[in-house]
Amino acid sequence: MTRYAHITGWGMAIPDKILTNDDLAKIVDTNDEWIFSRTGIHERRIANAEETTASLATEAAIQALQMANLQPEKIDLIIVSTSSPEHLFPATACLVQDSIGAVNAGAFDLSAACSGFIFALNMATQAIRSYSVRNALVIGSETLSRLINWEDRGTCILFGDGAGAFVLQASEDPGGLLSAVMRSDGSGGNALSVPAGGSKYPTTAETVAKGMHYIQMNGGEVFRFATRVMAHSSQEAVEQAQLKMSDINLIIPHQANRRIIEAAARSLSFPMERVMVNVDRYGNTSTASIPIATCEAVKSGRLVSGDKIIMVGFGAGLTWGAAVIHWTGPFPSKRRVRPKSLRIWARFRSFLRRFIRQVEGKIWKGYF
Ligand code: ACO
Repeated sequence: MTRYAHITGWGMAIPDKILTNDDLAKIVDTNDEWIFSRTGIHERRIANAEETTASLATEAAIQALQMANLQPEKIDLIIVSTSSPEHLFPATACLVQDSIGAVNAGAFDLSAACSGFIFALNMATQAIRSYSVRNALVIGSETLSRLINWEDRGTCILFGDGAGAFVLQASEDPGGLLSAVMRSDGSGGNALSVPAGGSKYPTTAETVAKGMHYIQMNGGEVFRFATRVMAHSSQEAVEQAQLKMSDINLIIPHQANRRIIEAAARSLSFPMERVMVNVDRYGNTSTASIPIATCEAVKSGRLVSGDKIIMVGFGAGLTWGAAVIHWTGPFPSKRRVRPKSLRIWARFRSFLRRFIRQVEGKIWKGYF
């Protein structure tokens, strides 16, 4: 029997702190007119000292579970797509697993920059369709503000922080992710990178002094690449789903730059009124931008059950991808997820496990 992976829950988390173009003009030599006309961005959200990639991811995940009415222990798989992970390891996904009490889930991070959410969505869907898992949580979360050189006007104007999450559940009814295209071209890796902090350039005083831990970007090259691949991959995903562009109700693109989005829509001869754009308020939140835009599309009534949509993105790697989704919505469920008790119970459980581990350590020490 064919199995499908439906999106049954969604949630988003954004920091309260707003950084406007006028605020940026006080830090670097720029102005609102330049930023808005080149990118379509008015403002972005910036994480405060307590907010991290894992905390935003957890917030979005709890909202998605609440929407799906799915208890955390029913989750089999958690994928966190991020380019600003909490640490090199452990995976941010494991921290989320612990903070929501998803005791039966395998959890890992996926690194495909801004295309990551589409890649993660496809991986979780394939795991469900192959009967490997039943319920999955896919999260895109970023605190790119921590990787930005606030003296570089070419990059600091673009990025913002935030997270978005989807719950995916198995069903024999057709729907959910119908097709996906994933592509990469490593020859363009140097167009957009954070060079140091990994195994090639471990952290030294020199790498810090040279600013090698910041985002470095050739904006023009990324712009040209993005306008080439967005339309092509969307078309490919639509053909794979055996649909036509005229069947598509809404396109939810990666929110990097309004001009890139408009160029893609033009190439597809698709009306901008049916393209979701919120880059003006959040800037580029990388892998989180597509799920955040999806949550806002549902909230504003632009995305409703039964719609067929395209999600399309591009990013560092270089990577790009598109997916066609038949949007359905939550499955009926009698059990309610209560975020407050979920958080308290998960924290208690985590504390208890740490405590038991400490006691075990003391007992074993007596033997050796
Ligand atoms: N304010 C004012 N002037 C600026 C600014 C700024 N913030 N930044 C650059 N300029 C100046 C430049 O110095 C240059 O001046 P010059 O002509 O005297 O040398 C002039 O503006 C034009 O600069 P360009 O870089 O050619 O500007 P462009 O029109 O290409 O816009 C931008 C730059 C907005 C970065 C654009 O190239 C872009 O959006 N590229 C795509 C970036 C992107 O999407 N990145 C994210 C990928 S997703 C991921 O994986 C994270």
